[in-house]
Amino acid sequence: MSFSGKKILIAISGGIAAYKIHFLIRDFVKKGAEVQVIMTPDAEHFVTKLSISTLSKKPVYTEFYGDNGTWNSHVEMALWADVMVVAPCTSNTLSKMVHGMCDNLVIATYMSAKCPVFIVPAMDLDMYVHPSTKKNLELAESFGHSIIPAESGELASGLVGQGRMSEPETITRIIEDFFNSNIEKTLDGKTVLITAGPTYEAIDPVRFIGNHSSGKMGFSLAEEASKRGAKVILISGPSSQFINDKNVTLYKVTSAKEMLAKVFEFYDKIDIGIASAAVADYAPKEVAKEKIKKNDDNLTIELVKNPDILKTMGEKKTHQFLVGFALETQNEEENAKGKLDKKNLDMIVLNSLRDEGAGFKNDTNKIKIFTKTEKKEFTLKSKDDVAKDILDFVESQLLK
Ligand code: PMT
Repeated sequence: MSFSGKKILIAISGGIAAYKIHFLIRDFVKKGAEVQVIMTPDAEHFVTKLSISTLSKKPVYTEFYGDNGTWNSHVEMALWADVMVVAPCTSNTLSKMVHGMCDNLVIATYMSAKCPVFIVPAMDLDMYVHPSTKKNLELAESFGHSIIPAESGELASGLVGQGRMSEPETITRIIEDFFNSNIEKTLDGKTVLITAGPTYEAIDPVRFIGNHSSGKMGFSLAEEASKRGAKVILISGPSSQFINDKNVTLYKVTSAKEMLAKVFEFYDKIDIGIASAAVADYAPKEVAKEKIKKNDDNLTIELVKNPDILKTMGEKKTHQFLVGFALETQNEEENAKGKLDKKNLDMIVLNSLRDEGAGFKNDTNKIKIFTKTEKKEFTLKSKDDVAKDILDFVESQLLK
């Protein structure tokens, strides 16, 4: 999931639920968002500027003026944001927001904001159901703001009922859905098959031949394709990545042979195939039934060639647009172009282990894309942004 490039303004007001905001900020930042936090003076009783700014990686403001005479511009912060999230929103802050009672930095910033505003109320149950709260929430909705309703459960007062601030994961999901709904569905109606991660080739019941692929590149591609409206079939070797997206069906496999079989269950029906998996080229000829004992100084394992999944896809290509990856350490461009031809691909994405931050495991990658006639070079970016570049390029080719 990604908030790459998104600017999120969080306004914290003074309620006990403010402690949960640490998790929300961490989640947003981890997913690539830039987060600016402002707080009401009362919020400082519940969370510290130090803990919040450590997580948000930016100074946190509660006042219009800094200690050294600087001006914390509410207008600049308001216009900077892609969304504003008021969480927790106390009944006091809610009331000030809807009635324009502009007596602190949070309200002044809110009143200057042109972006969508999400209000996440948190208060004790009687306050939450009070007619004035209900009226104020209705007013906020009538202004076009989104309310993320309080949940039911045990409250700080010890009472049980509705009033608990929505959990950070729920808030993240709602904001994510909001951003996704604004993405143009350029791959609507398309089925995209993506291979990801490493393959593990068993030596015996405890050992295998594998590689350092984390699956990140492939999972980022799956997520981006889904955001663009595609139906995604993601076939991944062993990876700790996870995905929770209704448009993505994840199939977990272990070996290259299993990956090949899974790919060809769907191959006829797909429009685009992207092979980002780091498939082991060789596998042990025999898999020992029992754990191999360390008796001798040397051990020889005979390896046999694995099927080349992408090459087979290229040979059986009818209508599919095929994208390969090339992971190289030398003669990069020559090798990548060779694979483009040999595997009958429409385009190939080259990443070189000689580029710092590129290739395996990192959250970043640096790529060059080749077709038979074109070459495009990209700078080092997050894998989420690399996925966008790759799919933009695929789309540009499909339009030709
Ligand atoms: O998973 P990450 O940690 O995020 O790392 C991403 C990555 C570095 C694994 C990814 O960006 C990448 O480069 N994937 C391809 C790695 C690779 O195996 O490259 P290759 O040059 O050996 O293979 C060329 C192409 O043939 C690849 O598309 C590969 O998926 C495919 N192939 C290779 C061998 C084989 N037996 N079957 C295949 O389908």
